[in-house]
Amino acid sequence: MSIHWFPGHMHSTARAIKDRVKAGLDVVIELLDARLPGSSSNPMLAALTTGRPALKVLNKQDLADPAQTAAWLDFYNAQPHTRAIPLDAGEKAPARALIKACRELAPLRGDMHKPLRVLICGIPNVGKSTLINTLVGKRAAKTGDEPGITKIEQKIVLENGFYLFDTPGMMWPRIAIAQSGYHLAASGAIGRNAFDEEEVALELIATLKRHYPERLQQRYDLAELGTDEAVLEAIGVKRGAKIRGGAVQMHKAAEALLGDFRGGQLGAITLETPDEMAAWRRELAEA
Ligand code: G4P
Repeated sequence: MSIHWFPGHMHSTARAIKDRVKAGLDVVIELLDARLPGSSSNPMLAALTTGRPALKVLNKQDLADPAQTAAWLDFYNAQPHTRAIPLDAGEKAPARALIKACRELAPLRGDMHKPLRVLICGIPNVGKSTLINTLVGKRAAKTGDEPGITKIEQKIVLENGFYLFDTPGMMWPRIAIAQSGYHLAASGAIGRNAFDEEEVALELIATLKRHYPERLQQRYDLAELGTDEAVLEAIGVKRGAKIRGGAVQMHKAAEALLGDFRGGQLGAITLETPDEMAAWRRELAEA
C-alpha cells in the first residue's frame, strides 16, 4: 500500500533528540500502541539516542489482547538495557510504574545533584498528550524551556530529581513494512486522507480472520466468513450501507469496520505478534 504521508517534521525532531542527548539524557521512553507495538515503534530511535536505556510503554493496553501484550512485554524485556510496561494513559495514577521502571534503568541518577533526565517520544495519536496531562495532574510542575535546545522542549518535573522531557515535533517511523502501514492506518495513527480506507479495511479483515475470526462473526452476526471482500460487503449490509439498486457502498462498510476496531467494539485486539513482526523485518531485509 502506498501511504501518502510525509514525515515532514522528522528532521527537526531528530535534531531535537540529538540536542537532548548532548544536553544530557539517561532514559528514553518510547510510547507504543499496545495493539501494534512493533509497527508503532521507531527503529531510528535507538540510533538517535545512542543506545540509552529504553522504557517501552505499551499504551492503550485496555484495547489490546492481554495475552499478546504479555508476549510483547517479554519480547522487549529480553532486550538489553530495556524495560517494558503496559499502560492505559487515562488511568488516574500511571506515574508510579513509569517512574519506578525509569529509576531501575538508571540507578545512579535521580537526586537533586544528579537528576534523572528522561525523554518521552511516540508517534501521533499514541496517547502522549493524554499521558502527559495525567502525569502533570497535581503532582508535577511544568517549568520553562531548556536552554540550548533547538525547538521548544517541555520539561516536566515529575518528582524531586526526576525530569521528563517531551520531544517536540512528530516521531515517525519510515513505513517500510507494508503490514505496518496497514496497522498504523487501521489504528488511526495516519491521517485519513493519506490512505485508501477500503484497502486498509480488507487487510484488517484478513488479520482478524487469522487471529480473531469469532470476533468478526459475533460483531456482525456472520454465520461463516467468506472472502475478505465478501466479509466487508456483509458488514456493509449489516450497517445499512446499501445504495438504491442494492449495491453496497464499500467505503461506508470500511468506515464502519475501522470505527468499530478503533473504538474497541470488536473487543481487545492486537494486530501483530513479535514473531510476525520479526518475519516481516526479515522479508524486508532479504528483498
Ligand atoms: P498524542 O498526543 O500521542 O497524539 O495522542 P492523544 O493523547 O491525543 O491520544 C489520542 C487518542 O487516544 C485520544 O482519543 C485519547 O483519548 C486516546 N487514548 C490515549 N491513551 C489511551 C489509552 O490508554 N486507552 C484508550 N482507550 N485510549 C487512549 P480521541 O478519540 O482522539 O480523543 P478523546 O477521546 O480524548 O476526545
